[in-house]
Amino acid sequence: SESGCLSIVVLGASGDLAKKKTFPALFHLFQQGFLQAGEVHIFGYARSNLSDDGLRERIRGYLKGASDEHVSQFLQLIKYVSGSYDSGEGFELLNNAISEYETSKNNESGSYHRLFYLALPPSVYPSVCKMIRSYCMNPSSHTGWTRVIVEKPFGKDLDSSEKLSAELGKLFEEDQLYRIDHYLGKELVQNLLVLRFANRLFLPLWNRDNIANVQIVFKEDFGTEGRGGYFDQYGIIRDIIQNHLLQVFCLVAMEKPVSLKPEHIRDEKVKVLQSVEPIKHEEVVIGQYDGYKDDPTVPDESNTPTYASVVLRVHNERWEGVPFILKAGKALNSRKAEIRVQFKDAPGDIFRCKKQGRNEFVIRLQPSEAMYMKLTVKKPGLEMATEQSELDLSYGMRYQDVKIPEAYERLILDTIRGDQQHFVRRDELRAAWEIFTPLLHDIDDGKLKSVSYKPGTRGPQEADEMSRRMGYMQTHGYIWVPPTLA
Ligand code: BG6
Repeated sequence: SESGCLSIVVLGASGDLAKKKTFPALFHLFQQGFLQAGEVHIFGYARSNLSDDGLRERIRGYLKGASDEHVSQFLQLIKYVSGSYDSGEGFELLNNAISEYETSKNNESGSYHRLFYLALPPSVYPSVCKMIRSYCMNPSSHTGWTRVIVEKPFGKDLDSSEKLSAELGKLFEEDQLYRIDHYLGKELVQNLLVLRFANRLFLPLWNRDNIANVQIVFKEDFGTEGRGGYFDQYGIIRDIIQNHLLQVFCLVAMEKPVSLKPEHIRDEKVKVLQSVEPIKHEEVVIGQYDGYKDDPTVPDESNTPTYASVVLRVHNERWEGVPFILKAGKALNSRKAEIRVQFKDAPGDIFRCKKQGRNEFVIRLQPSEAMYMKLTVKKPGLEMATEQSELDLSYGMRYQDVKIPEAYERLILDTIRGDQQHFVRRDELRAAWEIFTPLLHDIDDGKLKSVSYKPGTRGPQEADEMSRRMGYMQTHGYIWVPPTLA
């Protein structure tokens, strides 16, 4: 088992994130034996007045794919403590509950661990962290650790983010703070380092000599769905691009780390972020879908983008001249996330007139995880003709018996194990905000206007035009369809 004597505290226990992501992730870890009854206790904390059973019933409906008995065993590990986020009383109660559990335990290894998961709006992070610091730390008489998981948004721009980092930095050491970006927990994101640095095939190709452009794309086929008021204060760049897509960008563009040590990897991510040139307005398209402002919580004059396509340029030897197009949008025609690396044309090509497209290496993060390489092949048959085809590694086919873990499940386990590789370091967060803050301020000030697009489409036409301008060549007459099991 992983744990010794472990107390996991979910703050904001009755909220959406906790119900939909945190508790189900803990449940999956429990199911797989990583969290064991007798070694782990889970505490939910929130303001609502609830009983233990009240909380358990709220969670139950989100725990799928298991027998009732298993679910009940898990729910029995959960206790509820109610209190406010800024007064000592509640946190004293919480500490008492944790201590009571710790003393009741026959703990031979003698170490005690406390993990706090802040499933809360960031406005209360500073006060909650102060309370944890004052009332709930692992007592110094115990060996073991106290760790805190926090979730974006980490501020709204460079200044507010730095302020938050400074506040948290006074209370916790960097090795106690786990800044989650759940994209780093996705299987194919975690595969990027292996793919790039363990395959001879890619090493000589992964640079400006061979790659024409890179797209990192996030699409959702639904809108802001009732969270419009919240979303409107952030917009798609802060919600998706500055964090999720930028993390993916780092792993695609960074140099090879000295080793797999988390600090070595994160050092390289910081370096590539620092090599990104200032974003130019003419290399940005922002959009807002028709109907977004029908949400009564969204102001009528909102310019907040629900779609953005932003070109990043990396000023270094490897990438000079290669546009990285980061695109994200809500209310589009499909739901998917992918990385699309487009190679240059083959020089001295003798098939000129018959060619339909370029080589493209596509890493499909979700859904239907896959990697495929678009190739030009001879069209099978008597004629000498070419067509686009693919080398296809679809996970559903290749790994039929493997259940791909959820991002949150993996990241919580990493936290318990003390592995910060897949978490965002403070200087990395700063570098990320440095890239986007000038653009975000210009959008907030109305210097860039969102163009409108129809829900259910590819997004603004202007974005496709920009991709073409960046040299992206769309393949015609070819669509990759995820293979399905017969
Ligand atoms: C969250 C965003 O971070 O990621 C949401 O706040 C978005 O707006 C979600 O829907 C997407 O996550 P996933 O894992 O479904 O791609």
